[in-house]
Amino acid sequence: MARTHAQSAQDASTAPRLGLRDDGLRYGLVTRLLHWTMALLFAWQFTGMALRMALGRQPLVAFFVGTHGAIGALLMALAVLRALWGLYNLKHRPPHEHGLLGLAARLGHLALYGLMLVVPLLALLRAHGSGRGLTVFGLPIVPGASEKVDWMVTAGNAAHGLLAWCLLGLVAGHVAMVIIHRHVWKNDVLHRMAGRRVPGHRMAAVAAE
Ligand code: HEM
Ligand code: HEM
Repeated sequence: MARTHAQSAQDASTAPRLGLRDDGLRYGLVTRLLHWTMALLFAWQFTGMALRMALGRQPLVAFFVGTHGAIGALLMALAVLRALWGLYNLKHRPPHEHGLLGLAARLGHLALYGLMLVVPLLALLRAHGSGRGLTVFGLPIVPGASEKVDWMVTAGNAAHGLLAWCLLGLVAGHVAMVIIHRHVWKNDVLHRMAGRRVPGHRMAAVAAE
């Protein structure tokens, strides 16, 4: 049966307040802030690199490319914080489904974390190993090695770009699953990461008693 505006408004007003930490039904404010800020920064990185491939050297592309190392290093720092925050909240994360689908979601999120950490790490290692290092706003974020370290440069050249595109593919799959959950299987998961709605939160409260 269709829900009325009044029922939805009542649901929203009686939903438990969103706290800083995850609460077992929804991701909390810190997880959400990290998730959406990083999603924007990743969009920036991939847009810049896609434009570079499509248009070559141009002022607009140079602007994106000029910010690539700094934003990438920021993403690396945020990914470490996010992984630690995720571990701290591990017992309070919204649950996955049972069975294969739940396992796939868990493995998918784990792979996202792996790539979020490895992709920038490879680039930073390469920057160090090449002797150039990485300087952001005059601050030496990563010092250059005094002598070239071949394996770091080789690993960065071989895998940074490749794994970055794999990450983009995985993100596309991740977003597709969110859409399928919502529109095909009709068991929305978006509300866990956005908005205040907690479907059946009264049931959950009763079940917890
Ligand atoms: C999570 C963060 C990052 C993402 C998603 C990312 C993504 C990408 C992508 C998609 C490419 C294009 C590869 C190609 O041409 O096929 C690229 C290239 C590049 N990135 Fe990053 N990057 C990140 C962090 C960094 C960092 C921290 C640096 C540090 C210096 C960096 C330096 C470079 C360089 C020099 C290239 C051109 C050479 C190459 O293709 O490997 N990136 N990156
Ligand atoms: C428009 C883009 C995106 C949408 C709509 C979206 C949506 C969501 C939703 C609804 C969840 C909760 C899923 C659940 O609890 O089962 C989630 C979790 C997650 N998302 Fe995304 N997402 C987007 C982009 C990204 C990007 C770019 C990344 C990383 C590169 C990412 C990484 C994750 C991870 C690791 C989780 C697990 C919770 C966590 O540890 O933060 N997402 N996302």
